[in-house]
Order: sequence, then structure tokens, then C-alpha cells
Amino acid sequence: MSFVSTLKSSSVGQKVILPVWRSVYARKNWIYRNPLLFPAARREHFKRYNQDPSLTNMKEELAILQRDGVIAIPGFFDEETTRRMVSEVEPALEQLKAGTFTGKNRTLREERYGVYRMWDIDTICPATRALFDHAGIESLARAYISKDATSYQKMGELRPDPKRVSIADHPHIDDWKMRFKSFLYLTDVGPEQAPFRYFVRSHRDAPWRRTLEARYYREGSNGGYLNERERSFVPQMYEEKIFTGKAGTLILADLRGLHRGTPLVHGKRITLVNYFGVHS
Ligand SMILES: [Fe+2]
Repeated sequence: MSFVSTLKSSSVGQKVILPVWRSVYARKNWIYRNPLLFPAARREHFKRYNQDPSLTNMKEELAILQRDGVIAIPGFFDEETTRRMVSEVEPALEQLKAGTFTGKNRTLREERYGVYRMWDIDTICPATRALFDHAGIESLARAYISKDATSYQKMGELRPDPKRVSIADHPHIDDWKMRFKSFLYLTDVGPEQAPFRYFVRSHRDAPWRRTLEARYYREGSNGGYLNERERSFVPQMYEEKIFTGKAGTLILADLRGLHRGTPLVHGKRITLVNYFGVHS
């Protein structure tokens, strides 16, 4: 039973402890998420970042990433390497979907949205280390973010259910902080297999971004979605690129930029995702 459930189930908890705990929690959030403090927090955060092209040999890719916020590299992994990854990842994610996965990995089963995720998938699918331990991708992440950047999330994802819409299919940013995501298509992704979409160059500073970032700071990840008024003009300011591609296509993106998924129409989409950032 969780701490909150314990409080709710006892009368002393309901009358005394719960209100006090809520008040302390609200005050803590008021301090840490006060929008007036955001500009200073933002300045402090970005002091830790320093882009340095000398840290990578993938200089051409770095330049495109800096310019557009996103780049796709078709055929980054050859057919054989991709096939080996699929042969390990697909059964694990299908088990997760069927509810028969018995491993210890952290998982997410969102049947309503048709999204199934497994973290640290490299621990049970060693072939995926071709992506997760790729020195070139890591060097690019360090060159783009900071020499101190490391991978902080390794994940496999299955979208197998047509017509289910995920909240991530609406335009949003993943964070106001510097984040770098590399993700790999393990299945062929056409327009109907839930391609990733990115609003090119939306990672660059702009007035609408400051508003959105401050809202994210205040509300957490739910604050990273455009509201109705913003949806009426922000997406139109950018070219929306739809990233279809064969299995083995690698996509690198700065997820401070505006992006979204696409609902699956038929088939299924399997991806591997590696997030980089600076531990703070
Ligand atoms: Fe996202």
C-alpha cells in the first residue's frame, strides 16, 4: 500500500496528516515550480551545456541537428544487425502486450493508447547494444549537449493497435531542459505505421517557447503540450517533417523542439529509444 493510500485509509490520516502533507507538498511545488523563478532556473541550467563539435566525428550530422533540431539517417544499421535486434525485441514486447512477460524490467502497458514500453531492454536483448552502446551516437550526444552527457533511459516500444490515439500524438515538447533522443525503427515505417513527426527548427528560441517552457516548469510534462490557442498558430510557423523509413533507420532529435507521433493505421511499429542528458 502506498503512503497516500495509508493516510487515506486511517481517520487520523484523513483529518490531520493528509491536509498537512498536502500543504507542505503544495508549498514545495510553489517554491520549485514558481514561474517567477523560471528565468533564473533556465539560465542556471543552460550554463551546464556547451556544444563542442570536436567531440564527434559525425560533424555533418551534428551541423544538421544544430540547424534543424532533427536528422534521420536511413540504413544506419544493416539488415543483418537490425534483424538480430528484432528477433530479440519483438518477442519480449509481444509478451508484454499479452501480459505474459515475467522479467524484472520496468514496463508500461497502455492498452487504451495502444502503447507498450519496456525500459532497460538491453539487459534481456543483448543485440540492442549495437544501438545503446554505439560510440558514434554517444559522441554526437556529447558534442550536442555537453561532454558530461550520458544515456539516462533505454527503452523498447511497441505500437500494435490501429486507431488508438496516444497523448503524444499531439504537438508537444519533451522537456525545457537539454535532451537528446536517438531512436531506431525496427520495423518499416510508412505513413500508416505511426511515423514520428517533427516541426523543423522549432527547438530554437522563440516567444511561444518561453511560454511553453515556463508552463512545463510549473506543471511538469503535461504542461509541455500546446493549448488550443497555441495550436492555432505555432505549428503553422514551421515545416512539419514526417519521418517514414525502413527498419534500420536512425532518427536523432532535440526534444525541446515541437514534435508528435501519428496514430497507427495498420501493421505495427517497433522502436528502440535512447535518451541522453546531463545528470542534475
Ligand atoms: Fe515526445
